[in-house]
Amino acid sequence: MRLLAINGSPRKNMNTAHLLGEVVNGAASQGANAELVHLRDKKYSGCTSCFACKDPAGKYYGRCAMRDGLTGVLETAHKADVLVLGTPVYYGGETSLMRAFMERLCFQYHLYTDKKPPLSPRKKNVALIYTMNVKREEMAGYGTPAVIANAKGIMEELFAPCEVFLCCDTKQVNDYSRYEMDVWDVPGKLKRHEEIFPKELGQAFELGARLVA
Ligand SMILES: Cc1cc2nc3c(=O)[nH]c(=O)nc-3n(C[C@H](O)[C@H](O)[C@H](O)COP(=O)(O)O)c2cc1C
Repeated sequence: MRLLAINGSPRKNMNTAHLLGEVVNGAASQGANAELVHLRDKKYSGCTSCFACKDPAGKYYGRCAMRDGLTGVLETAHKADVLVLGTPVYYGGETSLMRAFMERLCFQYHLYTDKKPPLSPRKKNVALIYTMNVKREEMAGYGTPAVIANAKGIMEELFAPCEVFLCCDTKQVNDYSRYEMDVWDVPGKLKRHEEIFPKELGQAFELGARLVA
């Protein structure tokens, strides 16, 4: 059983990465081969709409023809049994790192026909993790639920039932006193980070274990 976790945060040691790390640990605890990839480390761009993946006579039918830092990651994602994509919310949606990854991952499999199913390999499970500054009850004001529902729908159309894991009201920086950030209830955020975030890490561990079970 292979689980691939993808970190769409440019930060490799903060909220999203920590949750994904626990997903990987949880999967590994069940004997799965689990790997975390940080998109920040890769040089790539989004889909260029070259349409090579839609040419049945071409060598890249159903596979992304672009050759760059994402090529190997897409290959690993193609073979993985479980995919977990984690991203901070930036301006209501996924980061540009994650968005570009999702374009490349998904468009290669999409077909503009109803006569055939998509060319994607079916997965056992898929999950999306979103971390964000705002509280859960505030995210609707930024359009985020619709963005998440859209991503979940695409994952389910292409791969497998998709769980969504939300981590809200995150601690964005380690030292709030250093920056102009007075819009936030900083003591509340720090308290939440100490009391709730460790529980969310535990839930992420359980998620990883469950997804590969
Ligand atoms: C450019 C930028 C845009 C952001 N936009 C939002 C947003 O629209 N909504 C939100 O709740 N948080 C927003 N955030 C905060 C991050 O989503 C949040 O701090 C997240 O947990 C960071 O994840 P990380 O710690 O894994 O990098 C934004 C952060 C940055 C840097």
